[in-house]
Parts: sequence; structure tokens; C-alpha cells
Amino acid sequence: MNPPKRYIITSALPYANGALHLGHLAGAYLPADIFVRFLRLRDKDVVWVCGSDEHGAAITIRAKKEGISPREIIDKYHELNKSTFERLGISFDYYHRTSAPLHHETSQDFFLKLLEKGDQFEVKSSDQLYDEDYDQFLADRYIKGTCPNCGFEEAFGDQCERCGTDLSPTELINPVSMLSGKKPVLKATQHWYFRLDKHEVWLREWIATGQLDGVQHHDPSTWRKHVVGQCLSWLDSGLQSRSITRDLDWGISVPLPEAKGKVLYVWFDAPIGYISSTKQWALENGKNWEDYWKSPDSQLIHFIGKDNIVFHCIIFPAMLHAYGNYNLPVNVPANQFLNFEGQKFSKSRGWGIEQHEYLEEFRDFPNKEDALRYALLRNLPENKDSDFKWDEFVDFHDKELADNLGNFVNRVIVLTQKYYGGVVPALDLDWKDRFIEIRAIVKKLTAELEAFNFKQASQYLMELSAYGNTYLQDVSPWQIVKEDPDSEKVVECMLFCLQVVACLSVLCEPFIPFTSPRIRKLLNLPPVQRGDWNNLWEALEEGRLLTPAGHRIGEPEVLFPKIQDRKDDSRALIIQRQKDKLDDIMNAEKGPEREPFKPEIQYDDFAKLDLRTGTILEAEKVQKADKLLKLTVDLGSEKRTIVSGIALQFEPAALIGKKIVVVANLAPRQLRGITSQGMILLAENEEGKMAFVSAEGDFGNGWGVK
Ligand code: 2FM
Ligand code: ZN
Repeated sequence: MNPPKRYIITSALPYANGALHLGHLAGAYLPADIFVRFLRLRDKDVVWVCGSDEHGAAITIRAKKEGISPREIIDKYHELNKSTFERLGISFDYYHRTSAPLHHETSQDFFLKLLEKGDQFEVKSSDQLYDEDYDQFLADRYIKGTCPNCGFEEAFGDQCERCGTDLSPTELINPVSMLSGKKPVLKATQHWYFRLDKHEVWLREWIATGQLDGVQHHDPSTWRKHVVGQCLSWLDSGLQSRSITRDLDWGISVPLPEAKGKVLYVWFDAPIGYISSTKQWALENGKNWEDYWKSPDSQLIHFIGKDNIVFHCIIFPAMLHAYGNYNLPVNVPANQFLNFEGQKFSKSRGWGIEQHEYLEEFRDFPNKEDALRYALLRNLPENKDSDFKWDEFVDFHDKELADNLGNFVNRVIVLTQKYYGGVVPALDLDWKDRFIEIRAIVKKLTAELEAFNFKQASQYLMELSAYGNTYLQDVSPWQIVKEDPDSEKVVECMLFCLQVVACLSVLCEPFIPFTSPRIRKLLNLPPVQRGDWNNLWEALEEGRLLTPAGHRIGEPEVLFPKIQDRKDDSRALIIQRQKDKLDDIMNAEKGPEREPFKPEIQYDDFAKLDLRTGTILEAEKVQKADKLLKLTVDLGSEKRTIVSGIALQFEPAALIGKKIVVVANLAPRQLRGITSQGMILLAENEEGKMAFVSAEGDFGNGWGVK
């Protein structure tokens, strides 16, 4: 396997029906951004594409709920997601959209080409649920019903959100159409199926051994274990042909006269979106998209979350292979899931924080973009699910970014200003060997980036800065200058430290790209550019100083003002607000305190009660008793007098005709000279608020309550 000449990098196209949260960012975008920035610094020919996934029933359902058109939804979220990514430094080369005509053409061409092959599709007729009032077939998400597994009554046609079981709409008990609210009927419809089963043999070999047609395509040991594991277990359960068309009016029309009213399934067209995004980028930049997708010296890499593994490692490769002449991915470094403060992100509960919301709420937080990028990076769910916690955000910021990186850079700039008026002093020395340690760290960092281990890579960045800090502390130039202001040892120490700072300014760029130009400014060097990783490496090997003698550096500035700062709590307050919001959610969900339950009883105890429905016929105050009302109640077979302590809560006149439940076999009691023949059931809370207990629906007096 020769080193690739080009790279085509993709990140999962997010659905344009909502904003993205931090879990999305950590899944498919931040890791890809780090990787692509790293490749650019190494002067590689790389194109990174993404865009909005604008089809599928999720979008039409949301549009219907909000009473607007799908177009309004996708335009809104396409813009929001695109601009939010930009603000976080996510540096796609192209952010396209699947509603673009170029994408429709590309997807239809894909469909027709596979159809032409003759053996890739089959057409099958099946019974699908149909809404007769709306005259349309129902997409899985348009059907709700009772889950056959757990009994949840609001399960969707494709999945039960309570127990997680994958369902098909016809499995639901009592299915209801979300369009008309009525029971759908079964009706035959015809669809095109992709013969995935035909690809099973080569796919298994390709996934398990990395071989394709007897040639080593990639090294499977470089793939994440959970990715290979998920693919093999899917393959083990056998591949079946999959329907790739739907009866829907939103999507890419199936380009055949006999397929009127049918569109391509969203998961058929979405990955083709990577290709059309590249085509659009190439058109606008005078390039040839095929160099990236088809040439043998180009590498395709998909960045995704684990819920998309099968689509990117099995189905899309099968589509590309079936089409012919396309490269297959050399790696799919899928991430697992990020949780938020110990729980899943949940839009409906408000649990989590969306990317644009973070930018808004942290607008006064210095270097908010890199603070977030770094906190996510430290907890990337590369091999297992991980958890984002605000307390850790604070620790990563204060202990690593501020105390380690920021503090080192600041001390070097301040001391250089102090000892040399900001002008780098000259010293004749062969630096080559002095840079051995730096080179070793850069090597490790590079290797981890090449292996998609971004979390570990970021730790080598911190290792370099910690190394600089320790060295500066060991030499302690501030002690030496007291005795000898012109000490050569101090010059050497400062030149070395400036070299470490210059290295950090380049190496940190993929991870914290907003901080890199700030460090460069402190050094009075231009922002890093394409190829600078290579230049840095050359300088380290040649023993060349990146800030040469006579160079004037910039003025010091604190890169990361600490959150836990005794003199300034403004940043801590921003964090506290986030934690308070979560406490509020938890408290609201907990429900109010109620009086404890009474000790358990047996059924026989309960059965002794004779509870009956009744109606209040008359109600009047009892003389000289503020709290009592005398009621006449119709119990069907007889009328009773009941005295009840509810006079402070209810006006007598308002009670006439009220339907109630009475304990009919309670021994009579004398109250203020009146015989009370039973008791009325009431609900009462801790503050004494009362409500009558009654049966619901159509019932008569004297019915037994069981
Ligand atoms: O899961 C999702 O959010 C999909 N919109 C991802 C599509 S990835 C690709 F195939 F476009
Ligand atoms: Zn269920």
C-alpha cells in the first residue's frame, strides 16, 4: 500500500430537521476536523465534505407538526447547522445539501446505473399500511401503536422508544395513522430492493481480512474493534435485499415512469450526498471529483457515529462496488456515544446542550470554542460511550489548558520580554541534539493522529507543554539572572523554551484552532499555514530555531483565564447556570413530596368496603359547625343523608348534581345531632385542597366500585 496522494474525508450528513448537540459534535465532526487540519498542515491533498440530509419522513413529520412546509424546515436548519459548525471552527471544504438539483441527478444516476446492471435490484410487491383518508402509504414514522414487546402505547412503526426494539409497522398492536388518527389498512405496493445478499461473500472477506478481489485493500487491525465487531455480527445474521424506494411525496423521485409517487429511500440517497458534495466543490474550485473518489492513489475515510456503522461499512460500500470503479473506505473510525451528565441527550427533556446554544450562553467566556473543543476531545467516545460533565469541563480548562499550556506560553513570553526587551537573543549552539525529546513527542503525536486516536494525541500536546514547564522550572532562569544578568545558560533556556512554544503553536492547531493564531501572535509569527507541520519537523531535524535571533516577539496575554478564580467569578457563574438548569430539570421530574403510603393490606380488607356511585341531590350548611355540610345523596336504591367536612372548600349550591363515590357500608355516626349514613370519597393534598372522586363515562347511581 503506497502512501496516498489524496484523501476524501466525509462526515455524516446531519438531518436538517433540528439543531445539533455536543454529542453530534464529538461523534463525527470534531474528530474529522482534527484529522483534516492535521493533513492540511502536512500539505496533503485533502477534501472534506459534508452537508444537510434533507429527505426522510422525520422532516415531513416535523413540518406537519409545526404547520409549515418541509422546505422551510430544511432551509432554517441547513443555515443554522452550517453557520454553527463554522463558528466552532469545523472547517469543511464543502457543506452541500441533498435538496440540490446536482444531488438529485447524482442519486438518480446511481439508481439507474444499478438498475441497468440487471442483477442488483429486484422489484417486489408487499402489503404496506395505507391511510385511506389521506390516500397515501404511511412511512414507518407515520404510524404509532402498541409495542408488542413492552406494551408501550406510543411506539413508532420502526422502533419502540421505550424498550428500543426495532419494529416493522405491521408488528404494532392497534396501529394508528399519525395523519388521520385512524386505523390504517393494508394495501399492496411495489418497491425496488437492492440485492445486498449478493454482496455478502466479498463484504465479509473485506471486513474480516481487508482483502478485496485477492488484493490487500486495507489493514483491518487499524479499524476500531467495535466497528469490525458490529459489521461481522450483522454479516453473521445474513444479508437480505433491502427496499430502497418509498411511497412518499418528499424526496428524490424514482426516475422511472412506472414509479410515479415513489421516492428513493433517504438512506439510499444520503451517502451519495458525499459524492455530490464533492462534485459541487470540484465545480467551484476547478477540480476533478473523480480524482478523489475513483483514483487508486486516493483514500476514502468516513467519520460517523456508531448508529451509522452498517450503512457506511456494508450498505454504501456494496452500492459503490455494484456501481463499479469507486474506491471503498480505507477506514471508518466511528465513535460511540457521548452522554451528558450521566444521561442520554434528550431534546424533549431539555437534557443536554445544543451547539448554537452553547455559543450563545458562553458568549462572554474567553476562548469558548477551544474550551469546548478541548473538553470534548478529552472525553471522546472513541472506543466506548463517554460522559460530558461540567465539573470536568472546568478541570480540563483550568488544569490543562490554563495551568499547563497557557501558563507555560505566558511565562516564556513574559520572561523574554523582561530579559531581552522582547528581542530574541543570539547564541551559537548546535541545537539538533537538544531537540531529541521534542522530536520524540512530535513523533508520538503524529502516530496517534494517523491512527485516529485523537484523545491520546491531545495528551502528547499536553506532554510537550508539561515538558517545557518542567524544564523551565528546573533551570529557573529567574534565580540565575539575580547573580548573572547576562548568563548564557539563561539565553539557552529561553531560546529552547521559545522553540517549544513555536512547536506548540503549530501542533495545537488541529485541536484548538482558535488558540493557535493567538500563540502565533504572542510570538509575532503569522498564523500557521498548510505544510507547517512539515516545516516544523524539518526545523527540529536540522536544529533550526523557529524564532531566530533578532526576531521581536509580541506582548504577553493570558490565553485561558481560569474559571476557578478567586478574584473573578464571572466564568464560574456561566458554568453554574448550566448546572442549575440541570438541577431544575431533575427537580421538576421528581414531582412534589407526598404523604407516605399506608402499610400494605390484603384483598379481603379492601373487599370489605362497599363503594357506590351516587349523585348529590341537596346540600346545606350545618348550624354552628363551620366545616360541615349536610348532603342528600341518591345511591340508586335509596337516598341517604351524609354529613361531610367540606364546607370550607365548597359552596353548597355548587354541589347539586355532582357525581360522587360513597363508602356505603360505614357504620352510621351522629354529627351535631344528625345521623350520617356513609362517607364521600375525596382526594386531598397536603395544603388541604380537595377534589371529588368520581367514575368516568356514562354511569348510574348505586353502581358498585370494585
Ligand atoms: O443519522 C443521521 O443523522 C443521518 N442523517 C446520517 C446520514 S450519513 C450519510 F449517509 F449521509
Ligand atoms: Zn417497547
